[in-house]
Amino acid sequence: MIRGSYAFALVEKNDPETIYVAKNKSPLLIGLGDGFNVICSDALAMLDQTTHFVEIEDGEMVTVTADAIEIEDPKGNLVYRESYEAQLDLTDIEKGTYPYYMLKEIDDQPTVMRRLIQEYQGESGEVVIDAALKNELLASDRIYIIACGTSNHAGWAAKSILEKLTQIPVEVHLSSEFGYNMPLLSAKPFFLFLSQSGETADSRQVLVTINQLGLPSLTITNVAGSTLSREANHTLLLHAGPEIAVASTKAYTAQIAVMTLLAKAIGDEKAVPEALDFDVFHELSIVASAMEALVDEKAVISQFAEDFLSDTRNAFYIGRGNDYYVSMEAALKLKEISYIQAEGFAAGELKHGTIALIEEGTPVIGVITEEVTGSHTRGNLKEVESRGAHTLVIVSQELAKATDQIILPNVHPLVTSLVAVVPTQLLAYFATLQRGFDVDKPRNLAKSVTVE
Ligand code: M6R
Repeated sequence: MIRGSYAFALVEKNDPETIYVAKNKSPLLIGLGDGFNVICSDALAMLDQTTHFVEIEDGEMVTVTADAIEIEDPKGNLVYRESYEAQLDLTDIEKGTYPYYMLKEIDDQPTVMRRLIQEYQGESGEVVIDAALKNELLASDRIYIIACGTSNHAGWAAKSILEKLTQIPVEVHLSSEFGYNMPLLSAKPFFLFLSQSGETADSRQVLVTINQLGLPSLTITNVAGSTLSREANHTLLLHAGPEIAVASTKAYTAQIAVMTLLAKAIGDEKAVPEALDFDVFHELSIVASAMEALVDEKAVISQFAEDFLSDTRNAFYIGRGNDYYVSMEAALKLKEISYIQAEGFAAGELKHGTIALIEEGTPVIGVITEEVTGSHTRGNLKEVESRGAHTLVIVSQELAKATDQIILPNVHPLVTSLVAVVPTQLLAYFATLQRGFDVDKPRNLAKSVTVE
């Protein structure tokens, strides 16, 4: 009788030893314990109880007692399903000596980059990607990236990497828009779903449609066995370890890195010169070291947060090209946890209206990692300075000037987003701490957004 998206549990007053559970579209798992069973929406929440879980599918109903579970399909037929063991333990989800998960997860990023090198590097130095996935991508004439929030921003950051290395055009879409306003598709589209959790309802509703149309799909996710992973044709894992803070950090950089690896694999197969010349594992190891240097700059970045963001009502990040995409992510990070009204803006677009918002002391943070656009962004910073803005520059070492404040170690031009984002994550973290808010659990937000 119930419609829509739900996951619920019922206990009958006269039979308190039995729980009846059902789900549609929302995640729900049964955890199998020794002499007990539990129900949960995420394995992470139950790791202190068990590491064995059974997935439940849409429309199924389950009767759970201490020593048994009985799954029925929508027609009332009994279903047998094997349990799986979550490849996680409690230490993966502990903060250790960190005050907040977000800080731990920012610091995890160099390790995640190195883990991805290990996970995806073959014996002859090739990127190991399933042949069927490669063939489907090689046969496609356009890649559609579908994602929300930070994952959508990772899609934007990876667009030019994918296009340059594979020579396949890429479109990036917000799931919630694509779902109801699907553009005209190319003749051979390939769908790439990006989702840390693998449970985001907006993305899933698109995947359901894509599956109905019989179109090929890949999910890149941090959670093996998640709904988007199960329902897409292929999965690539982020290997980032659990991300618990609501503000996504290491998943963003892991998503860009996995798409870079994928792009290299496809580009090599097509013998695209840019791909053949790009030593992806070497470049990602340089990124890992650069990230390490940046996360060691906490004291300096905390001071910039204090100077620029401690009592402002709003703030802007500006950049062009990939630096614009990083600016969008930087602004989302800042606004979702510090509650500063922040916008990531294409630097050249400011003068077409938004510059009217600049007043005495408005913080404007410029991101500059591209030589061709760097001088233009500097020009835009000058424009806002002359209207009273308080400017901060995040810039690659090779493009830096003496007065610039945050210097990024040099990395390959294709992957600058992976390092440029790190100081912006730290700025958001410290601004939030300084303003006295809970970094890991911002108001009005949940880690997995399982409603449309
Ligand atoms: O799990 P997903 O990657 O699909 O989640 C998408 C967004 O809900 C998520 O990135 C959200 O924007 C984060 N709170 C951003 O930090």
